[in-house]
Amino acid sequence: MARIAVIGTNYVGLVTAACFAELGNDVVGIDIDPAKVERLARGQLPIYEPGLEEVVAQNLKAGRLRFTLDYADGLRGAQFAFVCVGTPSGSEGQADMEQVRSAAVSLGRYTGEESPLIVVNKSTMPIGTGDWMLPLLQRSANSSAAQFRVVSNPEFLREGSAVGDFRNPDRVVLGGTDLEALDRVAALYRDLRPEPTIIKTDIRTAEMIKYASNAFLATKISFINEIASICERLGADVQQVARGMGLDTRISPEFLNAGVGYGGSCFPKDVKALAHMASMAGAHPQLLRAVIEINQDMRRLVLQKVRAELGGEFEERTIGILGLAFKPNTDDMREAPAVEIIHLLQSEGARVRAYDPAANEAARAVLRGVDLCADAYEVAAGADAIILLTEWSEFRRLDLARIRDAMVRPILVDGRNMYEPAEMAELGFVYHSVGRPHLEPAAGARDRAPAERAARTKATA
Ligand code: UDX
Repeated sequence: MARIAVIGTNYVGLVTAACFAELGNDVVGIDIDPAKVERLARGQLPIYEPGLEEVVAQNLKAGRLRFTLDYADGLRGAQFAFVCVGTPSGSEGQADMEQVRSAAVSLGRYTGEESPLIVVNKSTMPIGTGDWMLPLLQRSANSSAAQFRVVSNPEFLREGSAVGDFRNPDRVVLGGTDLEALDRVAALYRDLRPEPTIIKTDIRTAEMIKYASNAFLATKISFINEIASICERLGADVQQVARGMGLDTRISPEFLNAGVGYGGSCFPKDVKALAHMASMAGAHPQLLRAVIEINQDMRRLVLQKVRAELGGEFEERTIGILGLAFKPNTDDMREAPAVEIIHLLQSEGARVRAYDPAANEAARAVLRGVDLCADAYEVAAGADAIILLTEWSEFRRLDLARIRDAMVRPILVDGRNMYEPAEMAELGFVYHSVGRPHLEPAAGARDRAPAERAARTKATA
C-alpha cells in the first residue's frame, strides 16, 4: 500500500483522503486551518456530504487516516501528494491559483530526499498548470536531492454523491509525461472494484477533459433551459420534451432538468474559466458565453414570474424560499441561485423567509436579514408567495393544502419543476414552473378562508 498526502481538506480533499484510506493506503490530510484540522481529528466534518462521516470515522479509527497542519510531518515518507486546494474564480472569471501555488511551494520546501514525490493535481486546474508546477516545485525544494513528478488527475465528484463517485468512477483521467509516475498513480485506482477505465494522456489534455466535461454538462442545462423558455411561448411541456429527447441514447436523460439553472463551486467557475482561457488564447467562445448568459437569465425569469403575480413589485411583500443549497443533498451554497435571488428580492424591498433541510447553518454566513425557518410550513406562514429553488425530496412530501392555507396568497413558483401543474391548480395555487403550461387555479379552493385571509392581508399590509 502507499503513503499518500492530501493537501486541502474540503469536500474534494476529504473524499479523496478518506476513500484512499479505505483502499488500505496510509493517508495524511494536510490543511492550513487549525480549527478544521482539530475538528477533523475528532471525526467532525466541515461539510455535509452523505456517507463521508462514516468513511472518515472508520479510517481514523483504523489508523489509516489522520490530519495535520504540518507539511513536514504530513509528507514524511509520502510517495504521492494529491493537491486538492481551491481554485476559485478571479475577477475576470479566470481561476485564482494562489492556493495551488502556495501548496506547491510548501510541497517543494518540505519534501525530503525520499524517492520522487509524485504530485497529483486533483482540483480543477487551468490548462497549462502542469507545465509550471514542476519548475515551481524544484525551485521551492530545500534539498537538491528532492525529486518531483507531476500528474494531472482531475476530480469528477458530484457533491451529494462524492463518495460513490470516487468508489465507482465512470473513468479515471491521468495526464503526464513521466510514464512510470502515470502507472504508479493508476495503480492506486486499480484497487477499486469494479476496476475503473483509466485514460492516460498528456497533462494539458487531461486538464481539458475536466473543463470540457463540466462545460458540456452546463451546456446541456442551459440548452434545456432555453428550450423551456421557448416551450412556455409555444405551449409545449419541457419535461416531456426532455423525456422524449433523453430516450435517444446519444442524448441521455441526464442533465436535462429545466429550472432555475446551475450553481455550485464547479460549473459556474469552470465555464467562466474555460471561456477566459479560450479568449486569452485568441479563440472566440460564443457557445460558452451563451451558456453563462442563459444560466444568469434563468434566475431573473423565475423572479419575474413572482413579480408579475404580485402586481409588479416586492415592496413590503413577504416571500418564502424553499431550498437554499445549490442542489439537494448538500449544504453548499456557493453560487446557489437562492443567494442571488434573495439579494434581488431584498433590493426590491421584500421580506424573505427561508428554509433548507441542510443549508440553514451555511446560510447564516452568506445571507443577511433573512428569517431562517425550521420547516416549510413556517416559511409559508404569512407569505405572499413561495419560490422553490432546491428540489429536496422532503418538499415532495409536503402537505400542500396546509402550505396554501398558511399563505396570504397561494402563489408558488417552482424553480425546479417539482410539482405537477394540474395538481397545483386543483389545490388552488397560482402555480408557475419552468417550461410548462400555467393552469388557472380551481375556483373556490383558492379562497378557502376569505375572511381570515383578508384579515391576514390587512395585518401584513
Ligand atoms: C459537478 C459535476 O457533475 C462533477 O462531475 C464535477 O466534478 C463537479 O461539478 P456538482 O457541481 O457537485 O458536480 O453538481 P451537479 O450534480 O453536477 O449539479 C450542478 C448544478 O447543475 C446544480 O446546481 C444542479 O441543480 C444543476 N442541474 C443539474 C440542473 O439545473 N439541471 C440538471 O439537469 C442537472
